[in-house]
Amino acid sequence: MHMHKYEKWWLTFGVGSLVLFLVIVGFSAFHYGSHPPSAKVYIDPERVDEIAPFNNPGVHKVEGKDWDYEVVFVASAFYYNPPEIEVPLDAKVKFIATTKDVVHGFQVAGTNINMMLEPGYVSEFVTTVDKSGEYLILCNEYCGIGHSTMTSMLKVVE
Ligand code: CUA
Repeated sequence: MHMHKYEKWWLTFGVGSLVLFLVIVGFSAFHYGSHPPSAKVYIDPERVDEIAPFNNPGVHKVEGKDWDYEVVFVASAFYYNPPEIEVPLDAKVKFIATTKDVVHGFQVAGTNINMMLEPGYVSEFVTTVDKSGEYLILCNEYCGIGHSTMTSMLKVVE
């Protein structure tokens, strides 16, 4: 079969781009651990305050699990409960969060912790906090007039 020179170039370019794209996606997924938020658990968004673990937001030490701490967050327009948390350095932490009203974000600036919080769903993310410091937790989903002021603070202490 005869193929024009330019046709070969474009074919090589097209297949090459596809392979490069898959390599980049694969690298970010397997090496950096990027993945969509879990949201496998459902919850009645109108009864969040009564349902465990959201009836007790904050940092909880746990035993016999694959992680050392569970951090429970409830988001609502336009704040996070709790407004500030503290976890020890090198702890393996499971973040568990949901929202009581509209879609909010849960991004910990400077880390790869980034979840979308949807009403009716529970979002979870397990990570090890291996750098001490203060990290801003912010909402990265536009949720209304107070969106830009919706923050919390993660303190990782030695
Ligand atoms: Cu909550 Cu933007």
